[in-house]
Amino acid sequence: MHPPAAISLLFLLLLTITTTTNGHNITRILQKNPEFSTFNHYLTLTHLAGEINRRQTITVCAVDNAAMSDLTAKGLSLETIKNVLSLHVFADYYGAKKLHEITKGSTSTATMYQATGEAPGTTGFVHITDAKGGKVRFTPEDNPSQTDVVFVKSVLEMPYNISVIQISQVIQIGIEKRSNTNMFIV
Ligand SMILES: *[C@@H]1O[C@H](CO)[C@@H](O)[C@H](O)[C@H]1NC(C)=O
Ligand SMILES: *[C@@H]1O[C@H](CO)[C@@H](O)[C@H](O)[C@H]1NC(C)=O
Repeated sequence: MHPPAAISLLFLLLLTITTTTNGHNITRILQKNPEFSTFNHYLTLTHLAGEINRRQTITVCAVDNAAMSDLTAKGLSLETIKNVLSLHVFADYYGAKKLHEITKGSTSTATMYQATGEAPGTTGFVHITDAKGGKVRFTPEDNPSQTDVVFVKSVLEMPYNISVIQISQVIQIGIEKRSNTNMFIV
């Protein structure tokens, strides 16, 4: 085999590996839904997309462009936006069915924000409540006053690798009691 041929074969092999080891590609999944284009854009900008693709069991809570504008209009740093968005990635699989069948009606889930080790206290956890009338509510653990985040619809389910759901609003990181952090209310 000619060396150039060997090199291009190796290149092809590498390309195949990089595109097949990840069972899912969040960028591609969200591209099919233009209403999530801002959310998708920020997953790429913050490099969260790559982290999501590397995870095996995950739930991504997407918000539409209108809900994202609440977040992006604040002039926040990209790092803060990354922290907020990583709160929207759960380290567990929640499809629509599981969300509506939560044992005892309520559970706490760890997020990718918690996994970064940068989340102080319980800020990296989100409470999921199966509320009355079939509503499912998402409440940041340290910010129980935020009650406007509800499940809208399932976008994609690949049990039990990745579930992408739409939620109504951005989940806010609560104001920490201490003032020397970059915590805020969106
Ligand atoms: C994921 O999909 C996007 C858009 O199609 C593409 O640009 C990117 O290279 C893909 N990533 C991987 C790891 O395949
Ligand atoms: C989930 O991931 C595993 C391991 O990567 C893979 O074998 C399986 O086909 C995936 N399931 C789906 C529904 O894609």
